[in-house]
Amino acid sequence: MSGFDHEQVVVHTGSRSGLPVIVAVHSTALGQAVGGCRIWHYPDWRDGLTDALRLSAGMTAKCAVAGLDNGGGKTVVAVPEGVDLDPVRRRHALHDVADVIASLDGRYATGPDVGTSPADMAVIGERTPHVFCRPARQAGSGDSSPHTATGTLAALRAVGRRLHGTPSLTRRRLAVVGLGNVGEKLVRLLAAEGAELLVGDIDPGKRALADEVGATWGDPARVVTADVDILVPAALGGVLTEEIVPDLRCAAVAGPANNQLTVQAVAGLLHRRGIIWVPDYVAGAGGVIHALTVELNGGTADEALTRVQGIEDTVGTLLATAERTGTTPAQAASELTRLRLRAAAASHRSR
Ligand code: PHE
Repeated sequence: MSGFDHEQVVVHTGSRSGLPVIVAVHSTALGQAVGGCRIWHYPDWRDGLTDALRLSAGMTAKCAVAGLDNGGGKTVVAVPEGVDLDPVRRRHALHDVADVIASLDGRYATGPDVGTSPADMAVIGERTPHVFCRPARQAGSGDSSPHTATGTLAALRAVGRRLHGTPSLTRRRLAVVGLGNVGEKLVRLLAAEGAELLVGDIDPGKRALADEVGATWGDPARVVTADVDILVPAALGGVLTEEIVPDLRCAAVAGPANNQLTVQAVAGLLHRRGIIWVPDYVAGAGGVIHALTVELNGGTADEALTRVQGIEDTVGTLLATAERTGTTPAQAASELTRLRLRAAAASHRSR
């Protein structure tokens, strides 16, 4: 069993919604913990807790590797299977989330995630200021998904350079699994660049997007194991299982979906097969980089874009470090995280 290393986890029954609200603060060593609010169905609330624990630790690494002075946290509202939230109960759930965040007194701030939108952030903002990505008319930085897509494109360029010596993705074969908020925007960017695209989603209605941009449509299971240059996981986590690794036919995997590996050991299995894996928390950092640059640091849209595009250099450095030291990009990224957290702890002690 691995040790519990979260600073604080609040599990609370929402007084209005009656739903389990879980807020996991993994680390504030680098600064205020940040991480989105996920409203999702789980067979058991404990599955939501597991998700919150892993996702919040991922946010600590996401911020550390991106060079942000923030820690990691995550909120999960665990909706029981078969329960559909009507607008009133949804609003209640968001106010329940806001009250838990307010009780943390600035140690944690939230943002949008799977199942929530900028409009939902405005509802949370009715009860706490610790929320990012409200719509622009409510003084927020708005939807983070276009920026996550831009950052993923930057990560893919670094992978392209490593595989083919050039960051151009024109005529490269990419397989994108998941056409949600981020996946759709990414597919549009890749199509505009002239990439050869194979795409899939569990929702057959997304086929229209494939037709529109000239991508080949496939069943998600088939897309994952397709013979391509880069596999891009852009849906919910857990696509990379120990069982799937022998069937993969891509040269690299890089995408924005959080928690891509079902178990950490998969990173080693991919490495042994010679498949490059860019950690999800590195490739998917564009949204949080943009929101914090604009809302916390008062940066302009151009400054935020430059920082998001910096993901290309970050990934390039991780790939080079991994090659030089005979490790994986995942180990290089977790070493970078460890060093940043250690330096923060040391400067804290000397204060
Ligand atoms: N939910 C997104 C992520 O996982 C984006 C985000 C989180 C944006 C927190 C702003 C603040 O990174």
